[in-house]
Amino acid sequence: MLKIEQVGKTFNAGTINEKVAVKGLDLTINDGDFITVIGGNGAGKSTMLNLIAGVYIPDEGSIRLDDTDITRMPEYRRAALLGRVFQDPMMGTAGDMGIEENLAMAYRRGRRRGLGWGITNAEREFYRERLKTLDLGLEDRLTSKVRLLSGGQRQALTLLMATLQKPRLLLLDEHTAALDPKTAHKVLGLTQQIVSEHNLTTLMVTHNMKDAIHYGNRLIMMHEGRVIYDISGEEKKKLDVQDLLEKFEQASGGEFANDRMLLA
Ligand SMILES: Nc1ncnc2c1ncn2[C@@H]1O[C@H](COP(=O)(O)OP(=O)(O)OP(=O)(O)O)[C@@H](O)[C@H]1O
Ligand SMILES: [Mg+2]
Repeated sequence: MLKIEQVGKTFNAGTINEKVAVKGLDLTINDGDFITVIGGNGAGKSTMLNLIAGVYIPDEGSIRLDDTDITRMPEYRRAALLGRVFQDPMMGTAGDMGIEENLAMAYRRGRRRGLGWGITNAEREFYRERLKTLDLGLEDRLTSKVRLLSGGQRQALTLLMATLQKPRLLLLDEHTAALDPKTAHKVLGLTQQIVSEHNLTTLMVTHNMKDAIHYGNRLIMMHEGRVIYDISGEEKKKLDVQDLLEKFEQASGGEFANDRMLLA
């Protein structure tokens, strides 16, 4: 459903700060894939997600979603097709707005706003039901300001918002990295639950190898801006951390002692 072909992106080209972030990137995502993405610091994982989302436009190559070439489609037009959750819990929600107002914003994403901003009772009931599935008690706090929530509650809410209108593709960029381990585990569990309930096609970046192995049906490893390892199905199920370490060491020539992926 998504085809990335020979995509390249260099930042600050021609300057002393030139940085090749993605180069010769090929990736085909199939409908229903839940792909975990790992790779060392600066491997190009976030850049890949940003290229898919239209935050950056590739210097070369193409990106097709279903039958549409979206390589140069502006970010705001893709927003209706994509759900995104970032690492920073402060980013996905509006802190000074209430929980239900945040949900209403997400619900109206990519729609004409002719109906105004009033939240109907039916809508409120729908939000309450969806919040219940998180099992965090947020359904009784519809009008609470989001800034009063913990980081984990906020990420869970962002996840719900990103999937309220079923996205064609869900992009998660280390969305649990800023949370304590217990909360991270809970939010990952919710992620799994939401992805399978709505059968969402998903790309999830993580620096935790165990999580990368445990979640999803397919795992890719990135290095120097491209995919160097792509494993799925039964083969992925047999994978262990040692296998990934070996792959990573082969690719990076052993210069990986300080990598967050390993420190995790
Ligand atoms: N906006 C930008 N301007 C300049 N350089 C950038 C920009 N975004 C990313 N880069 C550089 O491109 C390379 C790839 O960065 P990217 O953020 O995609 O890596 P990553 O795999 O997500 O790494 P991490 O695990 O640290 O999050 C890095 O060297 C980074 O410094
Ligand atoms: Mg990143």
